[in-house]
Amino acid sequence: MATTTQLSDETSLQTEPNEITLIKRFSPKEVAEHNSLEDIWIIVDGGVYDLTKFLSEHPGGKKILQGVAGKDASKKFHKYHRKTTLAEYNRLRIGDLGSGKKKAIFFGLKLGNS
Ligand code: HEM
Repeated sequence: MATTTQLSDETSLQTEPNEITLIKRFSPKEVAEHNSLEDIWIIVDGGVYDLTKFLSEHPGGKKILQGVAGKDASKKFHKYHRKTTLAEYNRLRIGDLGSGKKKAIFFGLKLGNS
């Protein structure tokens, strides 16, 4: 079973038997900056996926992805794909969405120390 340890606001460490993964965290705002077909990130189930190089391979085409570029596409993703598709394409996952709440606490600490 995987355990996840939060290292900082931006990174966490996921450990599984024989596997350790460093997971980078992105805010929704950061993801939203990658919103074109030349540079497209999307969010599915809290994971952040860089589809820039995958676009031309996508069996559903490029056009449909344009509408969700930089956004949370979880609902649409689950409408069109087999249950196993997301896990099969984990190589496209560049990190996870950071929680807004943690950012707020961190921000508060920064203010108090300055
Ligand atoms: C991580 C992102 C994505 C990956 C890896 C991915 C991958 C795939 C794959 C492998 C298929 C073939 C069917 C299957 O194996 O399930 C497919 C089909 C399709 N995908 Fe995606 N997809 C992604 C995101 C999306 C999103 C966000 C949309 C919609 C906004 C979309 C719309 C479609 C459509 C319409 C099809 C064709 C379904 C059909 O012909 O029955 N995909 N995609």
